Amino acid sequence: MQTVPFSPDQASSFAGEVDALYGFLWALTIGVGSVLTLLILYFAVKYRRRIEDEIPRPVRASHRLEAIWVGVPFVVAMGIFFWGAGMYYRMYRPPEEAIDIYVVGKQWMWKFQHLDGHREINELHVPVGRKVKLTMTTEDVIHSFFVPAFRVKMDVVPGKYSTIWFEPKKAGRYHLFCAEYCGTSHSGMIGWVDVMEAPEYQAWLSGGAGGSLAATGEQLFQQLACNTCHKSDGSGRGPVLQGVFGKPVQLANGQRVTADEAYVRESITNPKSKVVAGYEAIMPTFQGQVSEEQLLQLIAYIRSLANVQGPASAGAGATGTQPAKPQ
Ligand code: CUA
Repeated sequence: MQTVPFSPDQASSFAGEVDALYGFLWALTIGVGSVLTLLILYFAVKYRRRIEDEIPRPVRASHRLEAIWVGVPFVVAMGIFFWGAGMYYRMYRPPEEAIDIYVVGKQWMWKFQHLDGHREINELHVPVGRKVKLTMTTEDVIHSFFVPAFRVKMDVVPGKYSTIWFEPKKAGRYHLFCAEYCGTSHSGMIGWVDVMEAPEYQAWLSGGAGGSLAATGEQLFQQLACNTCHKSDGSGRGPVLQGVFGKPVQLANGQRVTADEAYVRESITNPKSKVVAGYEAIMPTFQGQVSEEQLLQLIAYIRSLANVQGPASAGAGATGTQPAKPQ
């Protein structure tokens, strides 16, 4: 006889935790629901009207009883809140050491770019037992990245990066879905996550990937002539990009921001929005000239420069000595 599975495989480090919370909510609902139903039936029989003109005895309110029925649900509800919130914070804060993979959703497919240059569509290869972080965006409408066996789901929104992370615990092939209605072939926007044992994964990695994502980004950087202004010696009209990624950047308007993926993306598509202190707002927008995948390649390149020593003194606040925080 075929059994109907109650829930998907528990294939990530989150799966057990999510199921425990979900199971608790389930048990609580059924438990409270059945106790209430039985009490209603019991009281309905016990306190039924026995004669036509019966008048019930007056009931005196019990403060102790009231305190219990307010106090117990309050404690239980707050328990659920802290349990869920704690899990949420762990799930939505990717760890530093995670493997980075970039994802672009599009009607109707999932495109993946690995840092080593591997690119795939509707198929994602990851190693078992390693933390994996996805940085995701979309070319068109909102999609939602959902792997039930990992218990992770995250909306993928045009014009911004959302992240999700997971640690696969079991090798295997797991369904990947789009969980946000996104047009005619939404139901076909599916794929597989291949969780591989370390040696298999190494073999997969070594299977020719062309240049790394950063190298592809570097080529693009030159094709678009970004390097004519962003010179590494600090003599260009744009800020030096060496050693910038992940660090705070002093802006012309006195604000300070962190040079993360979102900042780099915005600086390419809308350069006038956050101008680095000491530079003119002369950079033209590249909106429409570079695809979401190319933006991610450029980001990978700039990110690969994070530990390259730039001429910090020439970086005009972008790196090196930080001016005191304004305000
Ligand atoms: Cu993409 Cu539904």
